Amino acid sequence: MSREVMSEKSPALVVHNIGQLLTMADSSVGLVEGDGLTVTCDEAGRILSLGAEEDAGLAPGAPEPERLDAGGGVVTPGLVDPHTHPVFAGQRSVEFGLKARGATYMEIHKAGGGILSTVRAVREASFEQLSQTCEANLSRLLRWGVTTCEGKSGYALDLEGELRMLEVMRAVNERHAVDLVPTLLGAHTLPPEYADQRAAYVELVAREMVPRAAEAGLARYCDAYCEDGAFTTAEVETIFAAAQEHGLGLRLHAEQFTDQGGAALAARMGAASADHLEAVSPEGIEAMAAAGTTAVLLPGAALTCRCPWPPARALLDAGVPLALGTDLNPGSSMTSSLPLMMSLACMQMGVSVEEAWRGVTVVAANSLGLEDRGTLAPGQRADLVIWDAPDYRYIPYHYGDNHVKNVIILGKPIN
Ligand code: NIG
Ligand code: FE
Repeated sequence: MSREVMSEKSPALVVHNIGQLLTMADSSVGLVEGDGLTVTCDEAGRILSLGAEEDAGLAPGAPEPERLDAGGGVVTPGLVDPHTHPVFAGQRSVEFGLKARGATYMEIHKAGGGILSTVRAVREASFEQLSQTCEANLSRLLRWGVTTCEGKSGYALDLEGELRMLEVMRAVNERHAVDLVPTLLGAHTLPPEYADQRAAYVELVAREMVPRAAEAGLARYCDAYCEDGAFTTAEVETIFAAAQEHGLGLRLHAEQFTDQGGAALAARMGAASADHLEAVSPEGIEAMAAAGTTAVLLPGAALTCRCPWPPARALLDAGVPLALGTDLNPGSSMTSSLPLMMSLACMQMGVSVEEAWRGVTVVAANSLGLEDRGTLAPGQRADLVIWDAPDYRYIPYHYGDNHVKNVIILGKPIN
């Protein structure tokens, strides 16, 4: 390829000896192959150039840049995980054991376990404990190549507690290399103290949590769990209307177990994404396609909860943008491996390798409103993963193993 250069600044970092470069700059993966390709990054953490070895762009007399050898492997944009719950306390391995013996996620949830057992633990945890868990989860995601993730509150379910979860994310975001996009999930489930006052809890979320989170700049998105045993479309609509009024974007846990019409609601209200979708109807798919709502599919949750796989092929064929997330959380998806989600999508859901790569890079970034990442081009954030792999298809193919060699965030090698 001819070298693409942003300016004549000299690079601070040169990644060289790249065998395959996935720029994501076309409707597939923007594959560039060659002997010894390079990516150069400037001091400010932006990509300067992509191109051939001899064109590394060193101005005469400029300071020697740091050099990283890709070993002939694959270089991609840093992965973007568009759906995680990284702030929690405790763990739910006992419930995992019950599920392995046949209990369902919904039975456990409706019996007061599930989300509510994590709520009890989070309410008792200190700010420091929650921060440590959040930080550890970001580090786990990073090890699998994630450089940006969305993260939700939703395990406190009271005003101060939900704000505290968002404050934990803000504090961790300031000191961790992974960029965290915060989402208020006050409507995750009905807290026990509101068992007989559903409307009052919806009002609390819409009239107090949403304005407080938005005014303090603690959340960029508002999410809700639209499901039998959680919230109805009418309740979600009340919360989403308030969120829109306060300038928050919308994301929705929709159609995980049953078709509630959540996908159509998300589409109608201009949500950035509808997530899960195991039980989405053809009408829901059609509405999402017409509105351009991104489908965030979560193969780890479908696997853990023994749901049917979400209809990825039908979504893609209808023209719905498809992203993949880990759904990292202590109940329905205790994993931080986004590459494993790609493997499951390719092996079980009819998703092509190229569609899976787009789903964890450019499509996921777009669903978070982030145009400066998810693709490789001059001027984009220099968030890169160097993979110890001979071909980009190798990464989902050799599943369960970690093929990350180096992660670079804003032009800085992290590991
Ligand atoms: O995305 N389904 C609702 N929320 C989460 C699970 C949270 C939990 O079980 O703690 C999900 O699957
Ligand atoms: Fe979730």
